[in-house]
Amino acid sequence: MKSLTDCYKLANGVEIPCIGFGTWQTPDGDVCVSSVKAAIAAGYRHIDTAEMYENEDSVGKAIKECGVSRKELFVTSKLNNTEHGYEKTMAAFEGTMEKLGLEYLDLFLIHWPNPIAFRDHWQEANAGTWKAFEELYKAGRVRAIGISNFRQHHIEALMETATVLPMVNQMKLCPGETQEEAADYCRSRNILLEAYSPLGTGQIFQVPEMQELARKYGRSIAQICIRWSLQRGYLPLPKSVNPARIQENANVFDFELEASDVQLIADLKGCVGYASDPDTRTF
Ligand code: A2P
Repeated sequence: MKSLTDCYKLANGVEIPCIGFGTWQTPDGDVCVSSVKAAIAAGYRHIDTAEMYENEDSVGKAIKECGVSRKELFVTSKLNNTEHGYEKTMAAFEGTMEKLGLEYLDLFLIHWPNPIAFRDHWQEANAGTWKAFEELYKAGRVRAIGISNFRQHHIEALMETATVLPMVNQMKLCPGETQEEAADYCRSRNILLEAYSPLGTGQIFQVPEMQELARKYGRSIAQICIRWSLQRGYLPLPKSVNPARIQENANVFDFELEASDVQLIADLKGCVGYASDPDTRTF
């Protein structure tokens, strides 16, 4: 990858810009509108939101006002945990589209595989949701469909009734948390790995080994993390509301980490915590 607009290619041939602008924990309103605009002005073309983030309105407003044409942008949203099953998924998708103010979505993801509301029948709920996703995909309402926080057994269950395979799995992938089993499984199925919390939701800046690497390469810790993510073959989704940091996080194409440092970062086990277990979490 040489620039923000370079793309990974999904299993269906759709191109997806190699760094996405994350909006988890970005408050709705002016902060969100201005940070998404700042990201687009800095050259990001891929924006990641979710109904659960409660900022789709603001993301949509920024997209409308940014001055870059819709077809140059790649927009992802995710199905909320309360909306699994065929009917609810269809209605939730329309709600998302209305909030975003868009005619089509580039990527729609099931946010979590096993929400508490469906815990005793999550397989069936996901099968219904996926049927809706496939219809939306075949109707051209979404250009690609995928999943988030799914582990191997969740994907295998989905594949019992799926006719279209997920093209993306968005997971917590960051220094010290590489979810090898799920990641290997996705790679073997040509499912692109998107990395949320690539900066460990901001906790990475305290990690001494990362401070040392930042000195070694003469780059910021954030840049080391995002570069690491790309060199691992992930698609990182760094979040920031600060224009200078948004720009900084995009300047990762003019240096390369040595293979031993890529491994060192992967091996910082649990330095910013591990992904939570989708089968036991309480929402
Ligand atoms: P802010 O939004 O104020 O810039 P993650 O992407 O792993 O979720 O991490 C996001 C956190 O990291 C946020 O707290 C964000 O704060 C902070 N952050 C993002 N980019 C940088 C950067 N380049 N330097 C320092 N902190 C950053």
